[in-house]
Amino acid sequence: MTNTEIVILRELLAREPDFLSGTALAAKLGISRVSIWLHMEKLRAQGFKFEAASARGYRIIQRPDGLHLGLIQAQLKGRRRELSIALLDEVDSTNDEAARQLAAGRPAPFVILARKQTRGRGRLGRAWHSEANGNLYASFAFRPHVAPGRMAIFTLWMGVNLCELITNLTHLKPGLKWPNDILFDGRKAGGMLTEARVDADQIRDLIFGLGLNVNGPANAWPAELSRHAVSLSERTSTPLDLNHFTAALIGRVLLAYEQFVEGDHAATFADLWKNYDVLRSHPVALLQGNRRVAGTAMGIDDQGSLLIRSENGRLQRFHAGDVTIEKQP
Ligand code: BTN
Repeated sequence: MTNTEIVILRELLAREPDFLSGTALAAKLGISRVSIWLHMEKLRAQGFKFEAASARGYRIIQRPDGLHLGLIQAQLKGRRRELSIALLDEVDSTNDEAARQLAAGRPAPFVILARKQTRGRGRLGRAWHSEANGNLYASFAFRPHVAPGRMAIFTLWMGVNLCELITNLTHLKPGLKWPNDILFDGRKAGGMLTEARVDADQIRDLIFGLGLNVNGPANAWPAELSRHAVSLSERTSTPLDLNHFTAALIGRVLLAYEQFVEGDHAATFADLWKNYDVLRSHPVALLQGNRRVAGTAMGIDDQGSLLIRSENGRLQRFHAGDVTIEKQP
């Protein structure tokens, strides 16, 4: 995918549903109409179809299925266009690939996307189901200069940003289950896995992994997930434009990261979390290994720890664990 092809796609998308003249495109790019045509041939080979009308120009009438790097890059805004993004057909885990590339010295930030993962990982050593089915598997690699203690809030802050993005793009209302689940009516649509390598008092590098069920069909879940998982398209009833969604998501995650590093999240974070927190005021049980704590969820503290008031009135804070909402007796 050359830069010229990305600009051609960007210009055509900007004019939709109208045509864009070959002359205007050639002038914009400073190349001949013949070379425009040659680039469009390359795009055709990737699954695009263009309608050409004499005196009017071109417009896109068919796009490739699924994730397409050029379509994502063409829809990135401003300085995000410089961001380094890799789209892999298949990988063990995008988080593992990001870790390998950080270790090899690749400059951060960068993004790894995959159509399929063969060893997608979740929190607490669980697997993340990662078929090539229209869902999103993404890892963002950063080298932030922040104290390790701020990591917990980082994931929660990303969670509220993802919920805001989903709400803006789909008008759905997701919820967040501390610390890292994006839910609709108790079913999981997304999970986040933040991993870092830490030096004595500073994070050396940080990987933010996100699995988001965007267009996965309802009947494609393995039996054990079918009652617990949901995709956005099941809720919107129509498939989402995955490349547009991914470009918007990349922009939002980068912005949220910058705000976090600058400390600009502090003013809005607590209210946003309250807005999406599905546990608050509910009876919950938290499991930490063999330990089980029951009580009422009372939100989070300023370190991102979950607050639970147990039956004897004691308020306890937890920075790790697996929470479930208990049925009211
Ligand atoms: C969880 O809910 O436990 C977190 C799931 C995180 C899954 C994503 S998919 C992309 C990235 N690569 C991985 O191996 N895991 C994360």
